[in-house]
Amino acid sequence: MNNPNLRAVLTGTGAYLPAKRLTNDDLSRMVDTSDEWIYPRTGIRSRRIAAEGENVSDMAAAAGRQALENAGARPEEIDLLVLATITPDTPLPASSCLVQTRLGLSNATCFDIAAACSGFIYALDVARQYILSGAARKVLVVGAEKMSAITDWTDRTTCILFGDGAGAVVVERSEGGTQNGILSSATGTDGTLAPLLHIEAGGSAMPTTAETLAARKGFVRMDGHTIFKYAVRNMAGIADKAVTDAGLRHEDIDWLVPHQANMRIIQAVAKTMDLGMEKVVTNIENTGNTTAASIPLALHEAVSDGRIKDGDNVLFASFGAGLTWGATVVRWGR
Ligand SMILES: CC(C)(COP(=O)(O)OP(=O)(O)OC[C@H]1O[C@@H](n2cnc3c(N)ncnc32)[C@H](O)[C@@H]1OP(=O)(O)O)[C@@H](O)C(=O)NCCC(=O)NCCS
Repeated sequence: MNNPNLRAVLTGTGAYLPAKRLTNDDLSRMVDTSDEWIYPRTGIRSRRIAAEGENVSDMAAAAGRQALENAGARPEEIDLLVLATITPDTPLPASSCLVQTRLGLSNATCFDIAAACSGFIYALDVARQYILSGAARKVLVVGAEKMSAITDWTDRTTCILFGDGAGAVVVERSEGGTQNGILSSATGTDGTLAPLLHIEAGGSAMPTTAETLAARKGFVRMDGHTIFKYAVRNMAGIADKAVTDAGLRHEDIDWLVPHQANMRIIQAVAKTMDLGMEKVVTNIENTGNTTAASIPLALHEAVSDGRIKDGDNVLFASFGAGLTWGATVVRWGR
C-alpha cells in the first residue's frame, strides 16, 4: 500500500449485447404506453433482450473474453474474477464460477457482488483493493444482467426502463511508475431506503410459491419519483467526492461515464459537475438501464470508438437499489 508507484490500471474493455431489440413501439403493443411518453422522460428508444436460454454467465463470458483479448491477458493470468449482477443464472453457485469455466480462468478466485446499478463500481473498488494490498495482480471485473427475467412485462412503470447486456474490464497491478490507472474510488450505502427499489419474493425471506407468483411478487418494484431525487443527489455527491479525492477539479474531468438509468438523471448530474453533455458518454437510447452492465458497456463503446484517449481523466458514477452509490476516477491508459 505504501509504494507510491503502485497502481491499479485498466488495461482492456469488453462488451456484449444480445441481438434482440425491443423498441418503445414494441412495448406500446404490450402495455399502455408510447414512444412519446417514454423517450422524453427517460431518453430510451430501445433495449436489448436476451434470447431464450441466453443467461448472465453467457453474456458475462462474452464481454470478459473480449476484455481479456483487448488487455492482452491470458486466462490463466487472472487471479480474481468479480462479477457484479443481481440476476445470476441460479441462486447457487455464484455465476462467476460458471464464467470461470467458460473462460478457463483456472487460477482465479471467483465471486459475485450484488449491488444493483452500483455493482460495477463496487466490483471495481474490490479489484483495486485486492491489487493495492498485493492480494491480486490481474483481475477481471464484469457487470452482467438479464433484467428481462426480473421485469414485470405487465407493469408499464418499470418495464420501459430495463435491458440486458454485459460489460467487462481487466484491472492490472502496475509498479512501473505510470501516472495512469484508478486515482480514487468512493462508495456509499443507505439500507433504510431499501423499499424504494426492491423485489419482494424469491429470496429466503419469501420463497417463491404459487401465491407469490400469482401476486407477481418476484419482479422489480420501484418508487420512480423518489428514486429519481436520490439518484441525482447521491450520484452528484459521490462524483464530487471522488474527483476531490483524486486531487482534481471538475474542469479536469474529460469524460463522465455515468450509470445509464435515465437521461434526465444523467443531465442533472452532469450539470452539477459543471460538465457539458459533449463530455458525457451515453448509450441509454439503445440499451435502456442494464443495471451493473451499464457503465462498462458505455465505457467500452467510448474506448473502442476513440473518444476516450490515453491521459484522459474519466469519471464513473452510479446509483442503484440498496440504496447504493459510487464513483471512480481513472486516468486512462496503461
Ligand atoms: C420511471 C419514471 C420515468 C417515471 O416518470 P415520472 O415523471 O416520475 O412519472 P410518474 O411515475 O409520476 O407517472 C406519471 C403518470 O404517468 C403514468 N405512467 C407511468 N408509466 C407510464 C408509461 N410507461 N407510459 C405511459 N404512462 C405512464 C403514471 O401512471 C402516471 O399517471 P397518473 O398521473 O394518471 O397517475 C421516472 O420516475 C424515473 O425515471 N425515475 C427513476 C427510475 C430509475 O432510474 N430507476 C433505476 C435507478 S438505478
